[in-house]
Amino acid sequence: MTATQTEKQRLEVHIRGIIRRDMPEVLQTETQSFEFAWTEEDFLRCLRQRNCIGMVAEQGDKVVGFMIYELHGAKLHILNFAVHPAFRHLGVGNQIVAKLISKLSSHRRTRITLEVRETNLTAQLFFRSQEFRGVCVLRDYYDDSGEDAFLMEYSFGNTPGKDSEEIVNRIVQYEDF
Ligand SMILES: CC(C)(COP(=O)(O)OP(=O)(O)OC[C@H]1O[C@@H](n2cnc3c(N)ncnc32)[C@H](O)[C@@H]1OP(=O)(O)O)[C@@H](O)C(=O)NCCC(=O)NCCS
Repeated sequence: MTATQTEKQRLEVHIRGIIRRDMPEVLQTETQSFEFAWTEEDFLRCLRQRNCIGMVAEQGDKVVGFMIYELHGAKLHILNFAVHPAFRHLGVGNQIVAKLISKLSSHRRTRITLEVRETNLTAQLFFRSQEFRGVCVLRDYYDDSGEDAFLMEYSFGNTPGKDSEEIVNRIVQYEDF
């Protein structure tokens, strides 16, 4: 941790699995974070899937952030993730992502992926700061706005294999977004 980081204000949160009672606070964060927000039904439909997991970050009895992700054979895929606007820049997002990274292992799930909207520069910068890298552009990815997505990826141990190195070399132009 650098001197600047230690001087910065950081809010320690407790991260646990989502429960039904969390939904009002999760929805409040969701609607204050996204133009095209998920509805309660979107969350419930997703969380009913066996491979879909939700976690929340709480400070005292307040839910200040959440993440919804999918389990795949070799990777985790982030579907939805936000920190309440009043609790941003306090390291909450970092702690949620660190929790997800702690679920990776060298022999099972070795990667985390997600799509980020082209216009969501904050999320792109955030994920870069968490050592995710841009992999490729997914053209016209979103039905709602028609905008492109950047596929971003984190690799376990941060030592990309030979194949990923080749991909990184080919898509190096996307690294500057
Ligand atoms: C992206 C998001 C989850 C980050 O959460 P957060 O709790 O504010 O992030 P942290 O405080 O842990 O930030 C960690 C690092 O990310 C980077 N970062 C975070 N917000 C940033 C911003 N607005 N601009 C540039 N870098 C940023 C910084 O490097 C920061 O480290 P620092 O505070 O030491 O400078 C939050 O901004 C959010 O909820 N955004 C709206 C929803 C969203 O876009 N979700 C992602 C969908 S893909």
